[in-house]
Amino acid sequence: MSQYKKHVFICTQGPYCGFDGDTEAIFERMKRQVGAHGLNEEVRVNRAGCLNQCGHGPMVVVYPEATWYAHVQVEDVDAIVNEHLVGDQVVTRLLFTAPPGNNKQVAHYPAEVHAFKDAAEKLQQEREALRQATLRALAQHREA
Ligand code: FES
Repeated sequence: MSQYKKHVFICTQGPYCGFDGDTEAIFERMKRQVGAHGLNEEVRVNRAGCLNQCGHGPMVVVYPEATWYAHVQVEDVDAIVNEHLVGDQVVTRLLFTAPPGNNKQVAHYPAEVHAFKDAAEKLQQEREALRQATLRALAQHREA
């Protein structure tokens, strides 16, 4: 038995989906609507990093069904909640159908978006370097 019956992942941290729609507003609306339906104990809504489907966003995926939704906007959230999370029916007009794996299509984004992606990757590398340094410091602290 899993901890939740359904798990919704919204690509808010990937470098492209945030330029296809207001992913934070989608996340906030999804959480609010799940709560409004009394589903907080059954449905978990999480921010997600890139889902490797860039260019079709904002992307939303619902597990355990592995139902992928593309081009989701804030005004689509209620349909996903009402029809899918409550009614167990796929919202067919938003359904993303693509071959398994990486379906990135990013050539159409302007240079500013690609520059954002590069900067975001650099920040991630800096964060990881800081995490590794912290781990080393903790290990030295435990040995002392
Ligand atoms: S940025 Fe959202 S799927 Fe890659």
